Amino acid sequence: MCGIVGYIGKNNALPILVDGLRRLEYRGYDSSGIALMTGGRVVFSVKSVGRIKDLEDKLGQAGMNQFGNLGIAHTRWATHGKPTEANAHPHTDCKNKIWLAHNGIIENYKELKNRLMADGHKFRSETDTEVIAHLIEDLYQGDLTETLVKVLPMLKGTYGLVLYHTDEPDKLLAARCGSPLVVGLAENQTIIASDVSAIVSHTRQIIYLDDGEVAEINGSGLKIINLNNQEINKKIDKIDWDIGECEKKGYPHFMLKEIFEQPETIKDSLRGRTILEQGKVKLGGLEVLLNELRRIDKINIAACGTARNAGLAGEYMLEEYAGVSTEVDYASEFRYRKQVFNGRTAVIAISQSGETADTLAAVREGKEKGALTLGIVNAVGSTIARETDAGVYNHIGPEISVASTKAFTSQVTILTLLTILLGRQRRMSLVTGQRIIKELLALPEKIKKVLESNGQIKNIAKKYYKAEHFAYLGRKYNQPVAFEGALKLKELSYIHAEGFASGEMKHGAIALIDEKFPCLFIAPVDSVYEKNLSNMQEIKSRGGRIIALTTEGNETIADLADDVIYIPKTLEMLTPILSVIPLQLFAYHMAVLNGRDVDKPRNLAKSVTVE
Ligand code: G6P
Repeated sequence: MCGIVGYIGKNNALPILVDGLRRLEYRGYDSSGIALMTGGRVVFSVKSVGRIKDLEDKLGQAGMNQFGNLGIAHTRWATHGKPTEANAHPHTDCKNKIWLAHNGIIENYKELKNRLMADGHKFRSETDTEVIAHLIEDLYQGDLTETLVKVLPMLKGTYGLVLYHTDEPDKLLAARCGSPLVVGLAENQTIIASDVSAIVSHTRQIIYLDDGEVAEINGSGLKIINLNNQEINKKIDKIDWDIGECEKKGYPHFMLKEIFEQPETIKDSLRGRTILEQGKVKLGGLEVLLNELRRIDKINIAACGTARNAGLAGEYMLEEYAGVSTEVDYASEFRYRKQVFNGRTAVIAISQSGETADTLAAVREGKEKGALTLGIVNAVGSTIARETDAGVYNHIGPEISVASTKAFTSQVTILTLLTILLGRQRRMSLVTGQRIIKELLALPEKIKKVLESNGQIKNIAKKYYKAEHFAYLGRKYNQPVAFEGALKLKELSYIHAEGFASGEMKHGAIALIDEKFPCLFIAPVDSVYEKNLSNMQEIKSRGGRIIALTTEGNETIADLADDVIYIPKTLEMLTPILSVIPLQLFAYHMAVLNGRDVDKPRNLAKSVTVE
């Protein structure tokens, strides 16, 4: 949610900033801006509404030929103020001396703005961000670092900030509270960005800033201080993936590439973590907690969007196979419920980015209440990964498409591993552990088979892409898949779609059904298949059109369904990992056929760092 890049060094900042913005575009893409500086002079500042491409067009070749060895750039997901050029970052003070880009929300900006306006400050935007520039202007006495350290405690809310003062030509500052910032250390240049994707093509040496830290980069190097002006020694981390993982590799969209990566990403999520002979798993991050985990008798999962849908599948398996009572919350609601924690409760945060503000807030709430906090996170070194007591990484490489796909299947895979771990500590037999592991290891080949249906799914999409509504229905393990399928369709193609527990449909929503309201049933041949079949009958009798997703070999379903998609047989608990893939492909093709921007659907952002 908003991407920031800052550069200081010996080279031309501009291409590095533009490339960084392109890589961070998934974080927000309604407007963007760049300010380029050298020797205390602002070479230019340019802003544009729309995508980074629009900014590049505006810059033109003439702009790209300009030189500046320092710069600040931002791609925005609007919170305060519409996506206009005036509201695009970087923002400045009255005299255009202070330049800054911000990710987050300044909650007390109104009172600060009123005071500053009463003192004569002239505001040019409707943003919360601009108050920071004016506050600094107000207190500045020749040292930007000193001023910033005074200003930051006045701000309520969250920020990742990169800023510059024309009176201190060779100094770039960054500060963090709640919104991620990474400092990339290369020879003769330093890059600050919201995440490593904007840095990895220049260096692998990085430092993650923590909340309450300010980074000062100048001719003599990097210094990190806290808000008491004390210098902090930070560990240098190494990025362990390369820029190739951020490329489309011949696919028309990142989403399609990421869907097709799933045989590999499931292997990556499982690698080195299963011990088949013992029917056990080994999760490195949790090894130190094995005794605590043995005592856990309640799990609260907190997550958002796709990660939450994965959590719902986890709820079924943790209860059925590990015998641990499990609840799943919308992370954004977690704090508002009076959770009953009992000293043996674990909070599991599931987050691809590891930066989702609502999920992070749930982790902090869980800690406050004394729960053990665990993370299932993809982004290594992200805030949730660092703030939870322990966790398991997905290890699936960067997910760039805003609509999450490979993260879902990996999250369900990790939840299965956790189920085996907790189950084997309790009542799960060796044989059951072995059976689940065996099936897990067989999944990559089965996913390959599912992907072979891509052409057929595209043809089905051709029949339905003009629909205005869609219902997705599933039971038990595939109820969350119904939610996920509907989420994919609506976020990508803007077609209204809802996911239902199949059995719930008759209690109201069935009133919606007519020939213009198609239903997609996720009905593998499992313990609830017959019940699903009855629900399909109910839809059929009311003139509804049906796409059915079922297990290979089930020919009879064709009597009821207009179209049938097959998935290979697997354990019931693992079906979500297979059944979700045709729904990802279906949503993808529906979006393409409707001419949508698949990788960057309107109004969304991949990493939502505001609450
Ligand atoms: C955003 C994205 C979703 C994602 C959700 C949670 O809303 O658009 O695709 O599922 O955030 O993200 P996380 O990084 O916490 O998994």
